[in-house]
Amino acid sequence: DSYTIDVIPGDGIGQEVIPAATACLDLVAERHGFALHWRDREWGSDYYRSTGRMLPVDGLEQLSTGDAVFLGAVGDVDIPDDVTLWGLLIPIRREFEQYINLRPNRTLPGVPSPLAGDRQLDVLVVRENVEGEYSEIGGRFRRGRPDEFALQEAVFTRQGIARVTRFAAELAAGRTGRLVSATKSNGIIHTMPFWDEVVRETAADFPGVTVDKVLIDALAARVVSAPESLDVIVASNLFGDILSDLAAAVAGSLGVAPSANLNPEREHPSLFEPVHGSAPDIAGKGWANPVAAIWAGAMMLRHLGRPEAADDLESAFGAVLAGGTRTRDLGGSASTGDFTEAVLVALRG
Ligand code: NAI
Ligand code: MG
Repeated sequence: DSYTIDVIPGDGIGQEVIPAATACLDLVAERHGFALHWRDREWGSDYYRSTGRMLPVDGLEQLSTGDAVFLGAVGDVDIPDDVTLWGLLIPIRREFEQYINLRPNRTLPGVPSPLAGDRQLDVLVVRENVEGEYSEIGGRFRRGRPDEFALQEAVFTRQGIARVTRFAAELAAGRTGRLVSATKSNGIIHTMPFWDEVVRETAADFPGVTVDKVLIDALAARVVSAPESLDVIVASNLFGDILSDLAAAVAGSLGVAPSANLNPEREHPSLFEPVHGSAPDIAGKGWANPVAAIWAGAMMLRHLGRPEAADDLESAFGAVLAGGTRTRDLGGSASTGDFTEAVLVALRG
């Protein structure tokens, strides 16, 4: 058995955490009797500087023949972030209908959290990933005049809201049954009441699931003040983006937060990546925490139908963290290589 994975390490610490994660993934795969066939894609900012594109003209076509995409991060100090994002990540998400962005965040033994006392957080943020506030509709008008303005439309479709809600409700049904929907229908009076209505109607098909709609501002506060009251959260593209970074920070560090961009129907490859970016401030120093990338790899194994291998990998990095081996972002002194080596040792167990 083997799976073909397109791997895009990308920029900055992407070049450090991705090799760390693929080493762990290869070992866990071997131990479970399957193989990962990596297709290396050197796409990203250097590729952009030499070609004017973030990925080749037929890049999406190349990716379409693989089983999954594994990405580090893209972003460089001298290229605008909208170029790197809209030139690579957003086209992949949209072309492959990866309409779910799944971000698990939980406090882990060995990872210091800013939460007071011994409060715990275990939250799954289900972010709508292809529509909503991130739209191309709009523009800049009356440029340079005193009455200049910019306009950007948010696009919410019944189908888009219903499918992200179904995905979240299914997850909630397998956990505590509590689904929270992030909204702002008091201030945003067209799209958000529609969001509320479709979420309520869709979730009604899941008898074991209760939906609680919470205003995004209050919900942000609750992530910090009452995290144990939260389990699965369904949110629009923008709200989900912000909430999941907040939840990641509350869990301890961006360095441990993974994410999956999923096409649940499996008609197209899904993409797995750490939540963090290219971290130019620490790139090249060997300080990057590889946990987010390794955990994203575990999510990939789960999606590929290898839950036992995914569990083993999660247990391995969990045990290493709990044992006190930590990178600098978590207050330790282990290098990326030290941490990775410890995970490999734990996997050989
Ligand atoms: P960032 O996530 O790269 O870094 C934020 C802070 O967290 C930095 O201080 C960094 O050192 C630290 N950090 C992040 N990941 C870490 C890890 N694994 N281990 C230890 N420390 C870690 O976010 P920032 O600085 O806002 O963005 C840098 C570049 O990355 C920008 O060009 C941005 O557009 C891009 N970016 C790309 C993403 C992607 O490819 N999906 C996601 C987020 C940002
Ligand atoms: Mg973000």
